[in-house]
Amino acid sequence: MRILDTAPGAKVLALGHYQPSQVVTNDDLAKTMDTNDEWIQSRVGIKERRVAPDGETLEDMATQAGGKALAASGLSAADIDLVIVATCTLESQIPNASAVVAHRLGIDSPGAFDVNAACSGFCYALAAADAAVRAGSATNVLVIGAEKLSQWLDWTDRSTAVIFADGAGAAVVGPSDTPGIGPVVWGSSGDKSEAIRIPDRHDSLRQEGQTVFRWATTALHPVAKLACERAGVDPSELAAFVPHQANLRIIESIARKLGADNAVVARDIVTAGNTSAASVPLALSRMLERGEVRSGGLALILGFGAGLTYAGQVIEIP
Ligand code: UT7
Repeated sequence: MRILDTAPGAKVLALGHYQPSQVVTNDDLAKTMDTNDEWIQSRVGIKERRVAPDGETLEDMATQAGGKALAASGLSAADIDLVIVATCTLESQIPNASAVVAHRLGIDSPGAFDVNAACSGFCYALAAADAAVRAGSATNVLVIGAEKLSQWLDWTDRSTAVIFADGAGAAVVGPSDTPGIGPVVWGSSGDKSEAIRIPDRHDSLRQEGQTVFRWATTALHPVAKLACERAGVDPSELAAFVPHQANLRIIESIARKLGADNAVVARDIVTAGNTSAASVPLALSRMLERGEVRSGGLALILGFGAGLTYAGQVIEIP
């Protein structure tokens, strides 16, 4: 077999994001459930989050974020030949979001598949895109993390309703002479699969918060360190650390144990909430927009969540 036209490397060419316009503050939530701003800020770190209205779908948000990343990349729809959407909150399982979003963006007949690895989904999807470009099975890939968690929440359950939110983030991945996406470190702990679940199609998202908290603050910093090691990067060389935005205490614990002393640590959860598969690209795209990180620096991204699953890799910031 002759393998033709494989790229020496792949990199993230551009990012984009979208958040619904409706801001929900902690005080707003306290009007309808037994909670308060002090508890939410001190235990989770969230001040406010975005919630999409009934008429705004996950595909709408994914299309917005994907369109922005595509525009920022300087490529056209015709240049994209693979679309991957990472999500765990589709309203309906069929059709997949990726084919719908690709069609809406005018991308003609790309490969299109969704990834469900919950809050780790974007990092899994990015690894798949990187491999596809390097293997020659795709030239340019649109990778989107999008969630409408609000439609899977029990709005009377204060242990989940105050945490999760809606939004989307996207990246365009294309060929590069030098690799701009490091080897992924991924894995799962299916023995803890009950800790975050939607028990059946009539139910809502349920979480054993403390079980997940303990796991996240003890099992993930070695994954973060290994992702750096596999990329040949010392944590001190990182310009940014962008973990899944689940809880500010978890973010700060992993960052401390990682020892990325020169990195800007993403704290997007404060104003975006926990948007599952959207949180990593949403956070990085917003950090870039605010000028907190610069193009060309190295970022460690790390997803973790239901499954339980995790995945992380070092990338060059576009
Ligand atoms: O994105 C997927 C991955 N998910 C995660 O990484 C989540 C990990 N877990 C967490 O972030 C935290 O465990 C939570 C934020 C979910 C909960 O924080 P916690 O510090 O573990 O609180 P807790 O569940 O131990 O609850 C402490 C108390 C309880 O009251 P009692 O039994 O001590 O009287 C809860 O009923 O806080 C109460 N509580 C609340 N009080 C006010 C729970 N939720 C709320 C609330 N407002 N929203």
